Amino acid sequence: MPKRFETLPMNVLSMGKAAESMITCSRTVLDRAAVRSHQEPEEEGKEMTDDKIPAKSANLSVLSDLCTPWCIHVVATLRIADHLAAGATDITTLAKATACNADFLQRVLRHLVAKGVFVEPAPGQFALNQAALEVQRFGLNLDGIGGRMAHAWGTLLTAVRTGKPAYHEQFGLPFWEDLQAHPDIASSFDALMGPAGHGIPDPEVLLTGEWEEVKTVVDVGGGTGALLAEILRVHPQIQGILVDFPGTVARAEALLQEAGVRERVRTVGQSFFDPLPAGADLYLLKSILNDWPDQEAQLILSRCAEAARPGGRIVILGGVVADDSVPSLLTPEMVLLGGKERPLTEFQELAHQIGLTILTSGRLPSGRFAVECRPI
Ligand SMILES: C[S@@+](CC[C@H](N)C(=O)[O-])C[C@H]1O[C@@H](n2cnc3c(N)ncnc32)[C@H](O)[C@@H]1O
Repeated sequence: MPKRFETLPMNVLSMGKAAESMITCSRTVLDRAAVRSHQEPEEEGKEMTDDKIPAKSANLSVLSDLCTPWCIHVVATLRIADHLAAGATDITTLAKATACNADFLQRVLRHLVAKGVFVEPAPGQFALNQAALEVQRFGLNLDGIGGRMAHAWGTLLTAVRTGKPAYHEQFGLPFWEDLQAHPDIASSFDALMGPAGHGIPDPEVLLTGEWEEVKTVVDVGGGTGALLAEILRVHPQIQGILVDFPGTVARAEALLQEAGVRERVRTVGQSFFDPLPAGADLYLLKSILNDWPDQEAQLILSRCAEAARPGGRIVILGGVVADDSVPSLLTPEMVLLGGKERPLTEFQELAHQIGLTILTSGRLPSGRFAVECRPI
């Protein structure tokens, strides 16, 4: 298995950055337009002297372009990169291999070539470049989780109006229920979270490095066990418990076997809103709290706190950021689930309300911000 430690947080799960940029820039653009209407017309991008006005105005037609993101999703779904790698390089062969219209497919590919994804070394002949190779890696397939995430942005208007996720309007069920009802989509989500998507997680999750007192680790919402497997590999004395939906822990088998840690892991298919396996030394919440609004986040933390052995710890990776860093404003988690990132002080208040004290917080060697808590 290649050793590529995870560096991507969940919000690079390819919902596209265009909407994010569009929202954060829109006020700037409107403000500037109001000022401009009382000024001489100026060239696009010309520096402005008033420091209240950004030096450069955004290019709205670039920011609001939906064409490129959809072209990328389409070529990912058609697995064009795999077909090219297999030798189907001319447009006629490519169209036949993917059961597509050659003219339309060529127009999509040429649009992407102009954007720096794929190259066209001779007319009608296409080839891979670095960006084209990565297209397949990022969970963009419209038939899998990529389709759910892409279409979920269509629910943003309702979410903004109501302050609640509106994913169910598009797919009939809230996000996690939809995934449970569609095991193929759930499986592609799990794969995206796993080593093939986000890379191999760094097992160093303790800021203090104090592993001696840890005998049992529970990875709460641990997906298919990538992090737990790495921890157990590095610490042969530790036993693990993987908690996630039944379908997800069932899909963990292969990864745990391959890592050689299967005998030391108990898998538990249950909701983390229900009482958790009790008496462990360490409860991990990696990329969990960012998925949930405050009430649910507190319930998950409470479940960990009541299950931990006296003096046991809860480690949070993801969903809490240092007070001096800017939390992501508009994340896939907000649109899919109503989740959010919290600055440390806000999290401290949330944790305190349910009887947790923060032992330490800071950056791990992986660059991730981590928080260690313990019941008071
Ligand atoms: C963003 S993923 C993070 C997975 C893993 N911790 C990681 O960092 O790769 C969120 C995980 O929470 C799980 N999950 C969501 N709701 C859950 C629930 N009510 N009970 C148990 N697991 C849940 C999902 O199945 C998924 O594996």
